[in-house]
Amino acid sequence: MSKKESSDKLKSLREQARHGGGEKRIEAQHAKGKLTARERLELLFDGGEFEEIGQMVTHRSTLFGLDKKNFLGDGVITAFGRVDQRSVYAYAQDFTVLGGSLAEAHAEKICRIMDLALQNGVPIIGLNDSGGARIQEGVVSLGGYADIFYRNTRASGVIPQLSLIMGPCAGGAVYSPALTDFVGMVDGSSYMFVTGPNVVKTVTHEEVSSEALGGSETHASKSGVSHFSYKDEPSAIAGFKKLLSFLPQNCEDLVPKYGYESMDESRPLLEEIIPISSEKSYDMREIINEIADSDSFFEVHENWAENIVVGFARLAGRSVGIVANQPLFLAGVLDNQASRKGARFVRFCDAFNIPLLVLEDVPGFLPGTDQEWNGVITNGAKLLFAFSEATVPRITVITRKAYGGAYDVMNSKHIGADMNYAWPSAEIAVMGSKGAAEIIFKDEIRNSEDPENTWKKKENQYALEFANPYKAAARGFLDEVIEPKETRFKLIKAFDILENKVVEPPKRKHGNIPL
Ligand code: HXC
Repeated sequence: MSKKESSDKLKSLREQARHGGGEKRIEAQHAKGKLTARERLELLFDGGEFEEIGQMVTHRSTLFGLDKKNFLGDGVITAFGRVDQRSVYAYAQDFTVLGGSLAEAHAEKICRIMDLALQNGVPIIGLNDSGGARIQEGVVSLGGYADIFYRNTRASGVIPQLSLIMGPCAGGAVYSPALTDFVGMVDGSSYMFVTGPNVVKTVTHEEVSSEALGGSETHASKSGVSHFSYKDEPSAIAGFKKLLSFLPQNCEDLVPKYGYESMDESRPLLEEIIPISSEKSYDMREIINEIADSDSFFEVHENWAENIVVGFARLAGRSVGIVANQPLFLAGVLDNQASRKGARFVRFCDAFNIPLLVLEDVPGFLPGTDQEWNGVITNGAKLLFAFSEATVPRITVITRKAYGGAYDVMNSKHIGADMNYAWPSAEIAVMGSKGAAEIIFKDEIRNSEDPENTWKKKENQYALEFANPYKAAARGFLDEVIEPKETRFKLIKAFDILENKVVEPPKRKHGNIPL
């Protein structure tokens, strides 16, 4: 073969690979409002440029007509490149090739870049769009999935792993995204379920659509499987690029720090947000937005367990993870879902050296059979364990209520927080004054001539004693009572001094978080 012939051959093979499953299937993909795998990667990487690995890989199967259906790349593009100037590995399943189905060679390609990402300490993003295990290849497809699951688990806590679902993701295929740190879904075109609507109908006689069973909204608001939902694919990819901007490259890296010029850090608006009546609600996000660098708050799990708010923000340019009770929903109470949501986020931040800021206004844990029967003891313990175990810098600001066990759980000094602040409006007590008075003055109230009035008086007496931050401050459980407007300034200073915090965990294989 002449030099020209061999160069032409390479060009032609590359061209062939670039066309995936062919024009007709690409048109069909576009007709569904979906981009191709290549177009998605072009949106992800800076300047649309990426280096492909294993472009010429093909499957080795000849069964069930596969000998006549062999495509370069085997239905997945694996690549590396730069996202906002930082290295990232990514794979994108190509639905135009055998429905993006996964089998031996396809899985080997994904495993290869997972190994490289782990070895080189670089985040990995999976863009999933697949009909699942390639039926014609049988058990090697299942083996391929398990090879990926194993690597997901080994990479957990070492490099950030992100999953975007941009098409079908069914059966055991769902477990790779579930093992990664963050999952995003696209409205109307992606779904995740272990068993689809047909099997559901056969087994439980329920009639349910794919969308209702496992669409983007379902997983973002009901199950919590997905952390983000996006209206279309470009916003999904843009959202994940923003998410990456808060994360370090790996567990040994420092969090990204963006340029920041110190200015007047006083935030007088913080004085206005909390209503005078402690029964009234307010939106904790207003407080977060005032404290954080402007427009930097990036919420995670926005529509699930809304009684707790978690997300990333920047404080003087540095990434912080925020965990905050949300008085706007269920008065900010902790329950099963909120505890799980908070615990998972705390553990992510701790694994990746992201300091934690806790904003606390919590009336306690939600009572009731639903909560108890669904394990609020175990779930609450998850949050307690996650905070207690975290070795990153941890700061708490109590804005209003800090009642009962929830006071301990929400990053109290007793479980290792580094700095604990409270606003003058803080109420730190075993329970609310009304309930407390009812219990400890039960006889006095019942036997008095005007029980209602006596109860009120006793409530006031209890409130005077405990519905303030000064008892806790006198014990040193708080480091300082601060004015709301000073909060941002105090936090910047405190996170600064904690920057080089070192905690040696006890020698052990791993803790046993109550899962
Ligand atoms: C082989 C597959 C495939 C699969 C789709 N295709 N899924 N080929 N194995 N799993 C092929 C189709 O045959 C078709 O090829 C092409 O991809 C496009 O598929 P369509 O059906 O035309 O597309 P659409 O109408 O959009 O439907 C998409 C779909 C459907 C809903 C995903 O294809 C489907 O139900 N596929 C089977 C899903 C499934 O049961 N997978 C196994 C799940 S169990 P042609 O050449 O005809 O165009 C599993 C276990 C994993 O994954 C366990 C891990 C531990």
